[in-house]
Amino acid sequence: MAKMITVSDIAKMKSEGKPISMVTAYDFAMSRIVNEAGMDMILVGDSLGNVMLGYSSTIPVTMEDMIHHTAAVMRGNDHCMVVGDMPFMSYQADMAEGIRNAGRLLKEGGCAAVKLEGGSEVAPMVKKMVEAGIPVCGHIGLTPQSVNTLGGFKVQGKDVAAAKKLIEDAKALEEAGVFAIVLECVPAALAKKVTESLTTAATIGIGAGNGCDGQVLVCNDLLGFSNGFCPKFVRKYANVHDIILKAMQDYKTDVEARTFPAQEHTFAISDDVMEKLY
Ligand code: KIV
Repeated sequence: MAKMITVSDIAKMKSEGKPISMVTAYDFAMSRIVNEAGMDMILVGDSLGNVMLGYSSTIPVTMEDMIHHTAAVMRGNDHCMVVGDMPFMSYQADMAEGIRNAGRLLKEGGCAAVKLEGGSEVAPMVKKMVEAGIPVCGHIGLTPQSVNTLGGFKVQGKDVAAAKKLIEDAKALEEAGVFAIVLECVPAALAKKVTESLTTAATIGIGAGNGCDGQVLVCNDLLGFSNGFCPKFVRKYANVHDIILKAMQDYKTDVEARTFPAQEHTFAISDDVMEKLY
């Protein structure tokens, strides 16, 4: 079995300036391929609400959804550091409930760390989780669980006050003990400044430019699963939508033309047996 990547490896990568690769995955099959590709980290993001379950936001995602998908990813994982996302309202209402839910993701989902959204306001909870032995990844900038208060999916930290708050939030999270922080939809120069202002916590950017310690993308986006809207910050490395569409159309055509299954897909039985049937 390959060696599992740990928080110490991530810290070492940050200190050595070695870029950290992270991608989302939500099931066994994708996890196997991501491992084969040698990725450093997998995020079982609550974006699964959008891309796997068809919700229009991450708000409806439950702890049960997250545990179910995290456990599936872990069954396909043999070396990536897997981070499970804390879904909306699994940690916002109550500190003890948040810590118990983070513990559930590790115990029942089997991941190595949790991620939660928010800045200095969640720092006390992060501290308690870390003290309880739960590695935590922060997430600031565009935090999709707060889409209703942010007023939509917009680039964050664009004025002086918001940019200063982002830097302070990152420092508060680092002080509380996070090993990494996702920076989502943040201007590149600001994300670089945040990265340089941290000593131990690695920054993982998504729509945050090339100055972060690492990068994360949603696997469905980078694979081109959808032929619809694609955020500006995504590079599509494949067009899986077109590949799957063509395969499905070809299969349907073959079934209708009775050209599938062919001889090589078919099991034989001896004529003797067939003759004795009637
Ligand atoms: O849920 C998710 O996939 C995320 C990434 C966009 C960072 O939080």
